[in-house]
This record gives sequence, structure tokens and C-alpha cells, in this order.
Amino acid sequence: MRDEAVERVVAPTADPLESAEESNLRPRRLSDFVGQPELKEHLGIVLEAARRRGQPSDHVLLAGPPGLGKTSMAGIIAHEMEASLRVTSGPALVRAGDLAAILTNLAPGEVLFVDEIHRLGRAVEEILYPAMEDFQLDIVLGKGPSARTIRLDLPQFTLVGATTRTGLITGPLRDRFGFTARLDYYSAADLDAIVIRSAGILAVPIEPAGAAEIAHRSRGTPRIANRLLKRVRDFAEVRGDGSVNLEVAREGLRIFGVDDLGLDKVDRAILDAVCARFGGGPVGLSTLAVSVGEQPETVEEVYEPFLLQLGLLMRTPKGRVATPAAWRHLGLPAPAGTGEPAGLFDPPAG
Ligand SMILES: Nc1ncnc2c1ncn2[C@@H]1O[C@H](COP(=O)(O)OP(=O)(O)O)[C@@H](O)[C@H]1O
Ligand SMILES: [Mg+2]
Repeated sequence: MRDEAVERVVAPTADPLESAEESNLRPRRLSDFVGQPELKEHLGIVLEAARRRGQPSDHVLLAGPPGLGKTSMAGIIAHEMEASLRVTSGPALVRAGDLAAILTNLAPGEVLFVDEIHRLGRAVEEILYPAMEDFQLDIVLGKGPSARTIRLDLPQFTLVGATTRTGLITGPLRDRFGFTARLDYYSAADLDAIVIRSAGILAVPIEPAGAAEIAHRSRGTPRIANRLLKRVRDFAEVRGDGSVNLEVAREGLRIFGVDDLGLDKVDRAILDAVCARFGGGPVGLSTLAVSVGEQPETVEEVYEPFLLQLGLLMRTPKGRVATPAAWRHLGLPAPAGTGEPAGLFDPPAG
């Protein structure tokens, strides 16, 4: 029965085809992981020290927007520690018993990866505190006045948590991680290296200028770089001889609706809604999400961070506001007085 629960929560939920392709491209060693030099250096030291002591590493929290390598890094930690990896996620752990079953089934030294750890329920999270701190599990037996608690010893393990929202992690949980890292958007040079590495794995002949073009439109995100590379590969195979140069990359990206800032259809729909439908804002998150047919969390966690980073959108207490750059990007005339506060000596609007 217990094993059944583990099966259920550990089973991957993603599309098996996509995950097979993704797992090919996933870096397996710290040395394959492109970019994030500070994170790699720090983590390298933490893991090496643990290895020398013959102990599992401290618990690690990875934070950052989707597609920057958190899941990959959890796999790398397990690989570098020569330990096996168990994968689950906050939303999959519904009851405290789900987590208890996983914890009691861990082998010594195993790495337990909890994706979206900010979405753990309270009761489940409380099981985690003594497990992380003392490798102990408190189990309540019976109900009512005769209920009693017993403590079970757990094997020593390493918890790797991933979150897109550090702000939503409770203080007590955050404090129990020995090492916390934030993944940042990648530079164009790093994305370039990722595109070239992935093209090698996928056996796509690519010219440097073609790789650079894909990298430049990848919104700082390795997952998007890989996705665009695959679409350009498809285009090159169907419309060309299968090899990618600058022209092929440009044309392929154009056909798949990726513009020169790397914005896709949804990004542009968001900007378009704020500008054309709501007069530039401010517009509330849920209204905006409904008007582009996405979940508010998706808009906030997946699309907005990059629009904010590009300076196309602003978050204000009253809602989302388009900047003059957003109007310009859409090719629309910005109404006077939007976004940037008028300068003291600007001529009056109108
Ligand atoms: N630093 C990196 N170097 C090379 N490839 C990377 C890197 N980070 C991410 N990737 C690629 O991007 C994809 C998405 O990464 P993933 O670890 O699933 O991101 P996250 O869990 O943060 O959403 C992976 O399949 C991998 O191929
Ligand atoms: Mg992930």
C-alpha cells in the first residue's frame, strides 16, 4: 500500500515524448551545465566537501523562473553525489502520508527532489521540518485522547527543492536549507553555447550566426533556446537541406511567430491587451489573464518576468502598465503621458 503511494507521487506527470527529448538535452554533470558560474562554483564546493566527509550534501533550494535549469541541477546533484534521484512535487503531495511514505522508502544518501516546493500544503510541510533537520519522522497513531506520537529514524538524505517563487516559501522551510541559490536569466553568450551543445546532441548542422540568432531570441531561457532550435531544425529539414544558417534561423523563427525580441504569440497578446484593450493600464492581473486566456499564475510566473526584464511592462500597486517601449514594439503610437512620468520641461500633452 505504501509503495503504491510512492508510485503515484513519484511517477512523472509530463508527456513522455517531450521528456525523452528533454532528458537527452539535460546536462548531467556540473561541467556540462553552461553558465551560472557562481552557482556552479558554490555548489561544487558544497558537494565536494560532502563527498570528502562521506556524507550526503546539505539540503539545497533552487529558485528562479521556469526553464533555467532547476530540474537539471537536481539531477546533477544526484549524479555528482553518485546517489539516485527521487522526483516529486509540491502539488503531488496531497496528504502528509504521501510524503511520509516517500521519506520512509528513501535509501541512505538519496536525493529527493521536490519541484514547486512553494505549493506544499501546511500539514505536509510540517512533516518536512524534523525530516530535514534531524532525519526524523513524527507519526501520530490513533485518534482523540488515546493518540500518541512516535518518532521514526529516517536515512540521511538530501532534499533539493525548486521554486519559481521564493517569496512564497515560509520562513521555517527556507531556514532549513543549508544552501540556497537563485538562477538568473542567461547571457546571449551562454545561450549560444547551449544552442551549439544541443545542436550537437540532436545532430543538427548549424552555423555560428544561426546559433547566435536563436540564442538572441530565447528570452534568456535555456528551455526556450532548445525549443526554438527544434522548431528551426524542423523548418530546415522540411524547407531546406537540414542545416541551419542565419537565413534559415530567421525564416524558421518568423514562421513560428517568434519576433526579434524573442516574444511569442502569448507575450504579444499580453502586451496587446494592456495597450489596445486597456488603454495602457493599469490593469489587474486576473483581468489581464482572462483576456489572453491564460491562468493568472502562468501570466505572472512564466510570461511577466521577461516582459518586466525587457522593460515593456511595469507592475504597479494598481495593476500592470505598458511602458512606451511596449507601444513602440507593437508599432502603436503611445498615448501622451503613459508609463514614464512627464519631465518638468516636457511640452504639455495634446
Ligand atoms: N545551464 C544549462 N546548460 C545546458 N542546458 C540547460 C541548462 N539549463 C537548462 N538547460 C536545458 O533547458 C531545459 C530546461 O531546464 P530545466 O532544468 O527543466 O529547467 P527548470 O526546472 O528550471 O524549469 C533542460 O532540458 C536543459 O536541456
Ligand atoms: Mg523543472
